[in-house]
Amino acid sequence: MSDLLTVVLAAGKGTRMKSDTNKVLHKIAGKEMVNHVIDTADKISSKVICIVGHQAEDVKEAINSDVNFKLQSEQLGTGHAVMQAKNEIENHSGDVLILYADIPLIKEKTLQDMQKFHDNQSANLTIITTLLKNPTGYGRIIKNEESEIIKIVEEDDATSKEKKINEINSGIMCIDSNSLVKALDDLDNDNAQNEYYLTDVVDSVRSEKGKILSYQIDDKEEITGVNDRVNLSKAEKTIRERINKQHMINGVTIIDPQTTYIDENVEIGADTIIYPFTYIEGETKIGSHNIIKPHNHIIDTVIGDHNNIKNSNVIKESIIKSQCNIGPFAHIRPGCIVADGVKIGNYVEIKKADIREKTKVPHLSYVGDAEIGTQTNVGAGTIFANYDGKNKHKTIIGNSVFIGSNSTLVAPLKIENKGKTGAGAVVTKDVKEDTTVIGVPAREYIENKDD
Ligand code: UD1
Ligand code: MG
Repeated sequence: MSDLLTVVLAAGKGTRMKSDTNKVLHKIAGKEMVNHVIDTADKISSKVICIVGHQAEDVKEAINSDVNFKLQSEQLGTGHAVMQAKNEIENHSGDVLILYADIPLIKEKTLQDMQKFHDNQSANLTIITTLLKNPTGYGRIIKNEESEIIKIVEEDDATSKEKKINEINSGIMCIDSNSLVKALDDLDNDNAQNEYYLTDVVDSVRSEKGKILSYQIDDKEEITGVNDRVNLSKAEKTIRERINKQHMINGVTIIDPQTTYIDENVEIGADTIIYPFTYIEGETKIGSHNIIKPHNHIIDTVIGDHNNIKNSNVIKESIIKSQCNIGPFAHIRPGCIVADGVKIGNYVEIKKADIREKTKVPHLSYVGDAEIGTQTNVGAGTIFANYDGKNKHKTIIGNSVFIGSNSTLVAPLKIENKGKTGAGAVVTKDVKEDTTVIGVPAREYIENKDD
């Protein structure tokens, strides 16, 4: 197949979204609509050009990949949008693919198959079309007896007979660069909307005796445009179904795909089981053999293997290694590292906490700005008092420490290996190795052997 130059049209206003945010920046499965299209384009193209106009700066900022932007300062139609990339099109020898930023469900494979078809048939222009029961609003495809496209008529320009045609223009086309350059020179705005219609390239290619074919697809969803929030929710559902299906094929059990929301970049290992009402977002990576019980919300987190994530936890920007028990109802806030075999139990909140192997924080605690060694037990209701009203301070706890229930650890504080605090202690001074402190404020407890 020839090298592909892809032009993505993203300059339009998207009025029907009724939004301050540009239409193509609305997210589907955690990723902006335009980025869905650009990422698909990136996989199959040697170069991608994105035409921006309305809220151009916002759109440019949202796109991370290496894209060449062209500004269409006035939106005078789809043909006019493509004209902005004319120099690049002239310098490209081979096929040019046109995509719309508001048609986010188109699949890489469909586009590749279309380009193959286009090249095998030696067509000059191939347009993706489909048959719709209700074609209202779309450009209609008019063909001759040899099934070649001879015209595309927009809704506003169509006669009542033409309006009855069910084959519609998706807007997605593959065209050889020479034909496109010539066609862009030929475009005018002599139509009902006074716009430069990209669809008029058909007239130009025909006048040069070029071959124009339709690549008709059955899956209408792939080429459905997102124009309002109803379309947006349908697109979201379709993309989420695709994502979940891929995970299931890869060996992940998703008990109820309808209520499981997984963003596109999330990775999950085989034999992990995901219960209903779970939301996994961003760049999260989850290993294998984990059990994720109902109502978990996991964001930008790395999780190892064989963990038991019980019901209703919020876990964000943290690392959970392997064989841990989390929850129910734990809140793991950004910056935590939870080592192998750790337990973070019921109603425990942790933040910027580095908790080493086999340590337990089983009930009702707040652990913030902390380092805790291995095999330490943090008793029920312990509070790490990390904030003095002005600054945050750190608490460092050693290995095999025992923190009594309802202790308050006032940072900055250090409790060395095998230190102990009594129940209800308010610890304001460092605790030496193998030493017990009790009371408020806590003092060293020395056992009186004579008692
Ligand atoms: C277009 C097609 C129509 C097709 C339909 C499929 C034309 C003339 N018509 O109509 O045949 O059935 O799509 O959805 O092409 N855009 C720009 N600059 C502009 C105008 C539009 O970048 O000046 C972008 C929009 O952001 C959008 C895309 O082009 O991503 C399509 O524009 P839109 O106005 O929605 O075209 P339709 O009227 O739907
Ligand atoms: Mg449209």
